[in-house]
Amino acid sequence: MDQEQLKQQVAQVAADFVTAKLKPHDILGVGTGSTVNHFIAALHERNVSVRGAFSSSEASSAALADIGIQVFDSNCGERAALYVDGADEIDARGALTKGGGGALTREKIVAALSDVFICLVDETKLVDRLGGFPIPVEVIPMARAHVAARLAELGGEPRLREDFRTDNGNVILDVAQLEVQDPEDLECTLNNIPGVVENGVFWENRPTLALVSCGCGVEVRGAKQMLASFADLLQGTGVCCETTFSK
Ligand code: 5RP
Repeated sequence: MDQEQLKQQVAQVAADFVTAKLKPHDILGVGTGSTVNHFIAALHERNVSVRGAFSSSEASSAALADIGIQVFDSNCGERAALYVDGADEIDARGALTKGGGGALTREKIVAALSDVFICLVDETKLVDRLGGFPIPVEVIPMARAHVAARLAELGGEPRLREDFRTDNGNVILDVAQLEVQDPEDLECTLNNIPGVVENGVFWENRPTLALVSCGCGVEVRGAKQMLASFADLLQGTGVCCETTFSK
């Protein structure tokens, strides 16, 4: 299977899971990217019934509107029962690098507004340590040079994402060569630089479960108690095996 087929495979399993778990009055959180686009198409095939969605980007909002799912204002005071999104890297503890599509800030907000986060990845995104994929940092334009200098002091090699503005009107610095020994510490350190809006390390808002697509099927990963509490629902989706997140 090529990577696109792996993304389609995991999107199908996620759509089965969502169809089984969500009730018609629930709100679904929806991420951004090509895996999520496959997931939105798979929801459409199943004619899934939800009250509406919180969306992490203008692109996903348009795709949801196309299939007739209403997008709610995330300030409405409610929570999403489930958030489904992709990632660029995932480690054995479930920490993520996200933001390849530049939607990291809204993605982290929707993850924070959701009770359960299901992350969809393919096996090429499994890593021992985050940081091989340059870490995206969303920055207010007037702080670009200052933030780049601070990132270089931390040992990173920041690069401005060319011809790109986020949905929030900001720029992205993609930071290579950052040693991610402690995702929790790095997530806070980056966000403490004045001018940084958000960064693509997801520790605080890491997923509850990860569905990992490989040549032999879809594996589920999560904390032991989470795997146990979703066991019935997961069985119905045909996941091939499960692995516990390391501590
Ligand atoms: C967008 C993201 C995406 O989830 C991430 O880049 C993975 O994308 P894809 O599913 O296209 O591989 O974080 O900001």
